[in-house]
Amino acid sequence: MKKLIGAMLACLMAGSLMAATSEITNSTGGIKSERGSTDLVTEAAPAPLKNFRKDGDSYDRQYIHQPPLIPHDIRNYEVDNKVNKCLACHSFKNATRMKAPKISPTHFETRDGSTLGEVSPRRYFCLQCHVPQADAKPLVENTFKPVEALN
Ligand code: HEC
Ligand code: HEC
Repeated sequence: MKKLIGAMLACLMAGSLMAATSEITNSTGGIKSERGSTDLVTEAAPAPLKNFRKDGDSYDRQYIHQPPLIPHDIRNYEVDNKVNKCLACHSFKNATRMKAPKISPTHFETRDGSTLGEVSPRRYFCLQCHVPQADAKPLVENTFKPVEALN
């Protein structure tokens, strides 16, 4: 009797192991990832481009010192060492006229703590820190909650 129960248990365990394995491996036995089940030697079909909203209210911030998310489309906005399209609206000089929020004074501070008369090089490439949002389904479950002070 004990042997029979043991054998049944072993079968059950093997069954659930197999079920779990097929969920995490692709056709060639590799691990399934956000690429889906396409193996590395095959080129995966690219995901369709996401639609960013054209314009909208600012997003709530989630933690102190968070670079605010960009609430508008930025396609074709050029930022390189000659032009910075973002500053055409967000610089102190242009913001009021463009009805855009100004960059904050922190954007003029160097890493040594001095304040410059123009945007500090470490804050020049805006997209290093600020990103636009698409209305996309999260790829993995996320239980992150904003800090209490911002609730
Ligand atoms: C044509 C003007 C214009 C340009 C160019 C522009 N923005 Fe904006 N931006 C706005 C306006 C106006 C808002 C206020 C919200 C709205 O109306 O969409 C805004 C909002 C933002 C915010 C949200 C601020 C907050 O406090 O929540 C960020 C961050 C931002 N923009 C970053 C950028 C970056 C980075 C670029 C360049 C890639 C850029 N913007 C280019 C006009 C502009
Ligand atoms: C190194 C990261 C970093 C870079 C690069 C950067 N920002 Fe920011 N930005 C922040 C952070 C963090 C905040 C919020 C706290 C603060 O004001 O410093 C912010 C705030 C802002 C705000 C809201 C200001 C306010 O008073 O609420 C705007 C608008 C903005 N940034 C635009 C820009 C633009 C335009 C550029 C490019 C010229 C840029 N940022 C580059 C990190 C960055």
